[in-house]
Amino acid sequence: MPKNIAIVVLGASGDLAKRKLIPALSRLYEKNEIDNCTAIIGSGRSEFDDTSFRNRFDISPEFARLLSYHRGMKGLKEYIEKKGNFSRIIFFMAIPPVAYASTAEELAAEGFGPNSYLIIEKPFGYDYQSAHTLNHRLARHFDETHIFRIDHYLAKEAVQNILVFRFANSLFYPVWNSKYIDSIQIQAFETLGVENRGAYFDNSGIIRDMIQNHLIQLLCLLTMEAPVSLDAEDVRNQKINILKSIEVRDCCRYQYLGYLDEKGVAPDSTTETYAEMKLSINNFRWAGTPIHIRTGKALNRKGTEIGLKFKKVPRLLFNAADILEPNKIVFKIQPSEGIVIDTISKTPGGGIQLSNANLAFCYRNSFKAEIPEAYQRLLLDAIRGDRTLFVGAEETEVSWKKFEPSLGKGKLKYYRKGEVPGPGLTDDWIDFEKYISVCE
Ligand code: BG6
Repeated sequence: MPKNIAIVVLGASGDLAKRKLIPALSRLYEKNEIDNCTAIIGSGRSEFDDTSFRNRFDISPEFARLLSYHRGMKGLKEYIEKKGNFSRIIFFMAIPPVAYASTAEELAAEGFGPNSYLIIEKPFGYDYQSAHTLNHRLARHFDETHIFRIDHYLAKEAVQNILVFRFANSLFYPVWNSKYIDSIQIQAFETLGVENRGAYFDNSGIIRDMIQNHLIQLLCLLTMEAPVSLDAEDVRNQKINILKSIEVRDCCRYQYLGYLDEKGVAPDSTTETYAEMKLSINNFRWAGTPIHIRTGKALNRKGTEIGLKFKKVPRLLFNAADILEPNKIVFKIQPSEGIVIDTISKTPGGGIQLSNANLAFCYRNSFKAEIPEAYQRLLLDAIRGDRTLFVGAEETEVSWKKFEPSLGKGKLKYYRKGEVPGPGLTDDWIDFEKYISVCE
């Protein structure tokens, strides 16, 4: 466990600190991942003393003692120095994205130096140019190895398992290419609409909010070559190779009816709340395998799945009539995490009747330990200095470059809340609903 750490939450009076960060730090404390020498300092514009700051959270008295509050940036360095001699000061920017660069500059001007680290929430940039400028401004004061860009999808347990599944099992390695895989499909559905984030979302849209970052990270892990080691740099390099090979082939955008009445949304907004995309990865492994991605708000259920549909078996033996379903591998990212391999089996009894049979691995049945919450995992990694689950500067820029041309393009269509829009770009979607109850 790293010693002498100060964690400074900038924007500590906000929602993220209350809902996610302080609870995650509190759980790390309960698990002895951070000790009594750790200082957790809230900083923000609001006026609090230590007691009123601590009282905002539902935490134990022992953990509360680690917390203190300093208003604003001015004098922050001196304040921290009085608390101790810290080997590492980690700043969590729980502040509006427009303030990331200027806040980093203020930190540098305050004199925070080489023992300072930054954790930055998404969205990282609004397009290629803004991401590039932000990277550039951060790099003037902070080394890339000290910058932790969060993509909370990377901290999901079932996402981390993708590389393990692929590279710790020789079984799947030979078939992981366009010769055997007919299509790759990724979907992330949500039932909620934009709720109280209308103003942010209206300026963003689902392609920026979900595809350009979270879902593309999933695609990278699913399709990248094996890295030479698990070092952050080696993993990032392979992800970048995929990002560079991605081509967006088609995109359609939809908006749910009633969106224009949401608080913070412009009355004539053409922002999409659902999008479907067809991509290809133009490299030797994946050329010829179509990739379908769809995601949206106000749909029929909450769930994220990745599916690999294999090529059909030849029209011989059991498949003379060409009716056999192809094999599929489905990664259930959330909820009810697991992996399902859909195969064909003989139905018991006389004659040859075939049916689908699932081979399923479910976290709930295989592992007793609770799955750590994403922020808990990310904060711990940042404290340890492990950048593997964070996004690198180049990744953010290449990804924006690929998706920018699709932003706001094409005719907007509409859908009713609770329905999945369509027909979209393909009628070849895996019936992911079939696997919902597996692992429940
Ligand atoms: C966030 C998006 O990054 O991810 C939200 O800004 C979205 O709009 C959320 O709802 C989805 O995360 P999860 O973990 O609930 O799938």
